[in-house]
Amino acid sequence: MKLKKLMSVLLAALMVAALAACGGTPASSASSEASSGSASSESASSEASSSEAASSSDSTIADLAANQDGPSNAAGIGLPDVSNVDLEALEAEIDELAAKVTTVSDGKLTIGTSADFAPYEFHILQDGQDMIVGFDIALAQAIADELGVELEVRDISFDSILMELNSGSIDLGLAGFSPTPERLEAVDMSLLYYTGGQSLMIKKADAEKFKSFEDFGAGTSVGAQTGSIQEGLAKENTPDASLVSLQTVPSVIMDLKTGKIDGAFIETAVAVGYVATQDDLMILCDVPYDSEGSSVAVKKGNEDMLNFVNAVITKVVANGSMDQFVAEANELQAQSIS
Ligand code: ARG
Repeated sequence: MKLKKLMSVLLAALMVAALAACGGTPASSASSEASSGSASSESASSEASSSEAASSSDSTIADLAANQDGPSNAAGIGLPDVSNVDLEALEAEIDELAAKVTTVSDGKLTIGTSADFAPYEFHILQDGQDMIVGFDIALAQAIADELGVELEVRDISFDSILMELNSGSIDLGLAGFSPTPERLEAVDMSLLYYTGGQSLMIKKADAEKFKSFEDFGAGTSVGAQTGSIQEGLAKENTPDASLVSLQTVPSVIMDLKTGKIDGAFIETAVAVGYVATQDDLMILCDVPYDSEGSSVAVKKGNEDMLNFVNAVITKVVANGSMDQFVAEANELQAQSIS
């Protein structure tokens, strides 16, 4: 039974990979990927030639960050270049960088997330206990482990995480943050640890009515999470539809299911999870976006933390842990809805 659910999630992911765009798309469509992405599939395609600085033993993490693997997005942020990483040297570098990091409360790494976003971060009941899991949380745990401190996860509303970060109440924001040029003005953002795409979801029953962005004319409505890049995608691609912003992704999905809105702009990996289990929903198309991928948000100017986080991301992408975090999160998600 559980396996069946997992298979349907995987199948849905495959189907999405074959999805067409909705038409009338901006020039950036080439950089978007419809499939639920993975760190290693990207890194596998990196050219070995671009990695010399990263692998030489006297390289610094700052070099490493500068020498990231493509595709870097609109904000100039890409996956780490892991084509030639010396894991032993990286390990030593991580220890060195960790020694410089201070956290907002002693002996703890406090992260802010919005746990409404499976498989990135979501609640499950395990042995009757509420837990927050997901591949962002697994990455946060890896970061805390490298620091040798306990992890504290704070579930707060998505649109307040970056403020909490800059006001000094949390150390990091991990919530599937797309590194946009606008956000980079307010906070620092790590290398990408995951790449994915953006989707427009509709109800299956409306498949005849909505075939492209143009079908979302006056009198229609679309939903997105408050403070997310999906709000911008809605305005850009369906400008005539009225935009309904809601605090959580499940409430956007609920509004779609109950017909309060006609479409929902949702991160593809998240959308795939919903269509795998909710028979009344479908992904209409891939939505082009040029700041694709997920970054960890760090307080503006906290270079020690940023360098350390980038080094840990490089490690978990290079050694395959990140792919494992994603696979485990997909499995937990499939189990939690079966
Ligand atoms: N990637 C999108 C953004 O950065 C959506 C992230 C939403 N995350 C969440 N945990 N609800 O705006």
